[in-house]
Amino acid sequence: MTLTGIALVVLFIIVFQVFVRKPNTTMKIATIPEGEYDPAVWGQYYPPEYKSYLRTKEIAASPTGYGGSEKVQKSVKEPEILINFKGMPFSVDYTEDRGHVYALDDLKNTKRINQTTAGSCMTCKTAQLADIFKEKGWDYAKIPLLELLPKLKHPIVCANCHDPKTMNLRVINPAFTEAMAQRGIDVKKASREQMRSYVCGQCHVEYYFVPTNKKVVLPWVKGLHPEQIYEYYSETPNEFAMDWKHPDSEAKMLKAQHPEFEVWSGGVHASSGVSCVDCHMPYMKVDGRKYTSHWVTSPMKHIKEACRTCHTQSEQWLIDRVKTTQTGVWEMQRTAGQTVAKAHQTIGKASKATGVNKTELDKARELVRRAQWYWDFVAAENSMGFHNPTMILTTLGRSVDLAHRAISSSEKALDK
Ligand code: HEC
Ligand code: HEC
Ligand code: HEC
Ligand code: HEC
Repeated sequence: MTLTGIALVVLFIIVFQVFVRKPNTTMKIATIPEGEYDPAVWGQYYPPEYKSYLRTKEIAASPTGYGGSEKVQKSVKEPEILINFKGMPFSVDYTEDRGHVYALDDLKNTKRINQTTAGSCMTCKTAQLADIFKEKGWDYAKIPLLELLPKLKHPIVCANCHDPKTMNLRVINPAFTEAMAQRGIDVKKASREQMRSYVCGQCHVEYYFVPTNKKVVLPWVKGLHPEQIYEYYSETPNEFAMDWKHPDSEAKMLKAQHPEFEVWSGGVHASSGVSCVDCHMPYMKVDGRKYTSHWVTSPMKHIKEACRTCHTQSEQWLIDRVKTTQTGVWEMQRTAGQTVAKAHQTIGKASKATGVNKTELDKARELVRRAQWYWDFVAAENSMGFHNPTMILTTLGRSVDLAHRAISSSEKALDK
């Protein structure tokens, strides 16, 4: 071979190593039947993936001090939660999220469920959704949850994200597919790269239940930004006016739910093509074989694999950067939450007074509804701002401003 020939081969190898980040295996695809949900059965064919999946059982604090998988009540560190969610189940029980294997147990054990809880709550807790949806369509959503629970044995397992026959990535939550279709995106035609975030986006998103039939809807018609979602809710879509009425302020409130996908999608990583999986399920090595880690947890537990594939800085530098963002967000989140709590109380006091200006009071209620939405959008998101620091801090700034305006409106309502 000539020198140029050798140089070309070396160049090819380097380019291949750098740009093709697929596992370097020729994986044999097993024949697992549709409807097999037991991860141990899948695990016989795919041992490193299964073994790492089982690590989602591990309970540990996060190296950043935020998030983590210990099941603690959020209100211990943030007592304002008890005021802001007064009159609804999140003031009774609201714990930190933990590993995927616990999803069904935590659903069964939460104090937030009772006889009237809708079946729709199981949508993001079990792969058995696939069968139930095939059999009943959206009708499953209005069946009482307690009636469905005895049939559910498997939490978030392989079948949530993989087609058993091909092992290709898939989305089984119909609410995600429908919401994307409304935005002109056909999930069935998504690229592998897009699927590496869509598999997570099928659950880690904001949603609401249609009051009449309990169908799950993701509020994305106007866009994924918290302001666009608020605007969407303001038009009372599908007759959905509120999640509950706050007992002090009597404002019609919204409860935000874990909008990781929305927050990530507007950030610097998404715009650079970095998927959820790049950070949360990085490639690892066992016996010289590369595989995708299925220990879905904080990426800060394995910075080398999760971040240093792209970032050349030291692990310490990376963790310090993440913590700097999170500490700032935490402080602002507390300030916003406490200001919102004060607004509920001020409006509550004003509404008991005689001769109060009703128009001004209603204005205060609309302001506190918005203020809380922005605070909750951030507080319910699980990265403490890391997924998109700029947008998260802007959103908290809006919340604080709106909460102060709610307070001054309620004070004005008292001026006779
Ligand atoms: C939350 C979604 C999710 C769950 C649950 C899940 N996987 Fe995966 N899996 C992925 C993603 C994402 C990839 C990377 C695929 C790609 O980039 O093409 C992957 C890749 C794989 C691969 C290809 C080889 C590799 O390591 O990259 C195998 C095999 C696999 N998973 C097996 C399993 C098994 C077995 C289970 C259950 C114990 C499981 N997966 C559960 C998302 C999931
Ligand atoms: C079927 C719905 C579903 C899918 C799909 C899903 N998640 Fe989750 N995820 C959940 C639920 C529910 C929890 C909380 C479980 C609990 O606390 O019991 C959770 C918890 C987590 C946690 C917290 C783990 C911990 O140790 O604190 C992380 C991180 C996470 N998911 C990331 C992802 C990523 C990344 C993907 C895509 C690869 C993904 N999830 C796919 C529903 C889902
Ligand atoms: C650039 C890397 C990166 C990307 C991309 C990314 N995340 Fe994260 N994620 C993080 C970091 C860092 C944290 C904070 C972890 C900590 O504090 O220990 C986090 C936290 C989380 C948590 C909370 C974990 C806990 O311990 O409670 C969830 C859930 C989560 N991410 C889901 C997602 C989903 C879903 C996506 C895609 C829509 C995504 N992430 C995209 C890096 C990333
Ligand atoms: C696949 C590549 C990739 C991975 C993996 C990745 N990043 Fe990044 N990150 C980028 C790119 C691209 C940018 C945009 C700025 C730049 O070019 O440096 C960025 C920006 C950042 C920034 C500055 C902007 C901000 O949001 O504060 C921080 C901090 C950061 N990343 C931390 C992390 C951490 C921590 C992880 C692992 C959990 C991680 N990144 C994983 C590619 C990556």
